[in-house]
Amino acid sequence: MDAINWSELSFGYMKTDYNVRCYYRDGKWGELEVSSSELLTIHIAATCLHYGQEAFEGLKAFRGKDGQVRVFRMDENGKRLQASSRGIVMAEFPVEKFEEAVRKVVKLNERFVPPYGSGASLYIRPLLIGLGAQVGVAPASEYMFLVFVTPVGPYFKSGFKPAPVCIMRGYDRAAPLGTGTIKVGGNYAASLVAGRKAQENGYAAVLYLDPKEKKYLDECGPANFFGIKDNSYITPGSNSILPSITNKSLQQLAKDMGLNVERRSIEVEELATLEEAAECGTAAVITPISQIDDLDEHKSYVFSKDGKPGPICEKLYNKLKSIQCGDEPDPYGWVTILQ
Ligand code: PLP
Ligand code: COI
Repeated sequence: MDAINWSELSFGYMKTDYNVRCYYRDGKWGELEVSSSELLTIHIAATCLHYGQEAFEGLKAFRGKDGQVRVFRMDENGKRLQASSRGIVMAEFPVEKFEEAVRKVVKLNERFVPPYGSGASLYIRPLLIGLGAQVGVAPASEYMFLVFVTPVGPYFKSGFKPAPVCIMRGYDRAAPLGTGTIKVGGNYAASLVAGRKAQENGYAAVLYLDPKEKKYLDECGPANFFGIKDNSYITPGSNSILPSITNKSLQQLAKDMGLNVERRSIEVEELATLEEAAECGTAAVITPISQIDDLDEHKSYVFSKDGKPGPICEKLYNKLKSIQCGDEPDPYGWVTILQ
């Protein structure tokens, strides 16, 4: 292959050597299969195409200074994929099999795990889709699990530099009692119009409000939200946001650094009192927010004027990265070293 310029990678797709697949037929999951094809051949009436029976995950593998490859919290992604499957009536993929598939696909594509210190990582994308044909609205009886990998750089162009986001009340990514808490493609389809509008206006992302009252902060299109004030890490408690594994990890790290952790409703106006604000997620890692423009109320909440991340965001970022790469011990058992 042509040499990859690891430090210049963006968050995009690159062909790798193999993907791993598994089929659910006659009420049971089969064996893991290895494929070198980037293509799928599926039925024209497959439920994933018509009725959105599709859920996905995102996790990362990192290469350490010691050359070893570490995967971050894959059991959590396996469990969340099961929750997503229950949410849209798909067959649940066993967590142990999920972990086996992840280990296998990373091993098979080990030459694509970016070198230590490059700032890049190997993004792992598991996918579960309804394959069976239906024309009436009903769940499929056949499913496919698939996992591919691709080396990636930062999700937001800014990387670990503060970026602006906006609030627009005219759009929701999920309904109040809808699919916001699970990782299904429909949520992302629903975010595309607002996302494009935000980008056209120079924003990295939309910060959605709760879809019922439009009073509280929910999350960003591809990431959770947190703020820092008075030695507290504050993140929205909401039943229309994705339970982010990165956010859960940061809450633990914040607690162990001596911060208070508050998971609760955050009114939009409370933004005025925050000292730092950021997005967090597998792809976003921690992306500090420079300012939040409320486009309906014509108000701006500014967190960084000098283009630098706030001190707590920086501390959390360094701690998380060090555990992921193996620079620091992992007292939480979050990391799986691939043998
Ligand atoms: N929220 C949304 C809508 C996401 O798509 C993601 C990405 O997975 C997250 C939050 C962050 O979740 P995690 O930290 O588990 O990647
Ligand atoms: C992730 O952080 O893994 C995501 O899924 C966000 C986005 C790429 C959809």
